[in-house]
Amino acid sequence: MNHDFLWGGATASYQCEGAWKEDDKVKSMWDHYLHEENLENGDIASDHYHRYEEDIRMMAEGGQNSYRFSLSWPRIIKNKEGDVNEKGIEFYHKILDTCKKYGIEPFVTIYHWDLPQYWEETGGWLNEEVCYAYQHYAKVCFDNFKDKITHWVTFNEPKWFICSGYLIGNYPPAHQNPQETIKAAFHVMYANALGVKAFREGNYPGNIGIVHSFTPVNGIDDTVETKIAMRYADNYCNNWILDTAAKGEIPIDLLTALSKIYDISFIKPKHLKTIKENTVDFLGLNYYSRTLVKPYTEGETVLIVNHKGKESKGESKVILKGWFEQVLHDPNMTYTEWDTEIYPKGLQEGLIEVYQRYHLPIYITENGVGVQEDVSVDQVQDDYRIAFMNDHINAIMNAMDEGVDVKGYYAWSSFDLYSWKNGCKKRYGLVAVDFEDNLKRKPKKSYYWYKEMIQNNGKTIKREKY
Ligand code: BG6
Repeated sequence: MNHDFLWGGATASYQCEGAWKEDDKVKSMWDHYLHEENLENGDIASDHYHRYEEDIRMMAEGGQNSYRFSLSWPRIIKNKEGDVNEKGIEFYHKILDTCKKYGIEPFVTIYHWDLPQYWEETGGWLNEEVCYAYQHYAKVCFDNFKDKITHWVTFNEPKWFICSGYLIGNYPPAHQNPQETIKAAFHVMYANALGVKAFREGNYPGNIGIVHSFTPVNGIDDTVETKIAMRYADNYCNNWILDTAAKGEIPIDLLTALSKIYDISFIKPKHLKTIKENTVDFLGLNYYSRTLVKPYTEGETVLIVNHKGKESKGESKVILKGWFEQVLHDPNMTYTEWDTEIYPKGLQEGLIEVYQRYHLPIYITENGVGVQEDVSVDQVQDDYRIAFMNDHINAIMNAMDEGVDVKGYYAWSSFDLYSWKNGCKKRYGLVAVDFEDNLKRKPKKSYYWYKEMIQNNGKTIKREKY
């Protein structure tokens, strides 16, 4: 690790800020959806809006030199006309100034899923106008924060929020419609290019990338059928984001396969030109697990996500009709209570593959394990998290030994926060937040482990070659 390596933790506006209608913030699609459905929400979350100083100070005291967080569109832009909410701008200036005060490098995501509800009501990501609205919002961010931010991210995880929102239906707007999924996905990638374009045209300092929910694809065997299934899975999971953002090209075999069943006539030459001309400077990869696939056998598409943890363990299922099936319950592998396979080797192999494909600098922008924990104790003894982080940082180091240009690592998450449809009981934080006791912050054992590891520049990692 060189001395510029960024070590930190990550959060997202909706998941940690709370203050959902304070200082003229308008409703996001998540506020609307969770209130309508009467589900656990992020109205208060970790109350980072009021406790950011304590949180950022703890990052610095924990030896971290960077903080990845997101800006909230509905806090910054008041309406469809694009009017700016100065109080929102002021809030992020306070965060950025606090980062500076504690020697923390900000790594900032412009969009982490909290679309203003006033845009959702016009069709959200199905409406091309939203792409231009995103570009305006991104420009407002660049103009206001250009002196304080050099690491920008256009979008967090297009695959995850688009497939969840339009195909699986477990996230807002909770549709289950493949045709819509394709259109919304395309619009997000177009908006990504428009954001990069605005960044280039404004000559802002720093660099801009995209963050992807990276699940490298493995097959159960070497047969031709499995190889075909793997390519479908890779296109579905990874390539439509990474190829499009990094090379400016949507995979042609994916477009061909889609065009046989769906209408893709909304893709026009002007969009493709913008995408081609505006590629990213770096890739952010969020790594939780791989996708292990086998050939499709029969039946309709089934996409079931476990949002309950232990009580639903084993219920997750992924079958994409005609394309592939995901192996999610291999008795030889280890899974979390939420059915996520623990597979650090996938990170090592995936990093090598992505670097060979795109030759761009890479940040691991999220990595962590979600667990139910009793945080009423003085210190959570999260040895499982320490083991998880050790093994994944080891995998990164192995990839770096092979020449991969990794520039930073962010634990998900800096502190406990609201985990979308899993609520607050699924905890990822290095610092515990006691939601039952005044949101008290208490560093977990992993926080101190991480501190020591950073101070020793990774030398305390137990190394293993996979
Ligand atoms: C990533 C997101 O998908 O994974 C985060 O960027 C999210 O916002 C994290 O919280 C963990 O997923 P989950 O569903 O367990 O909270």
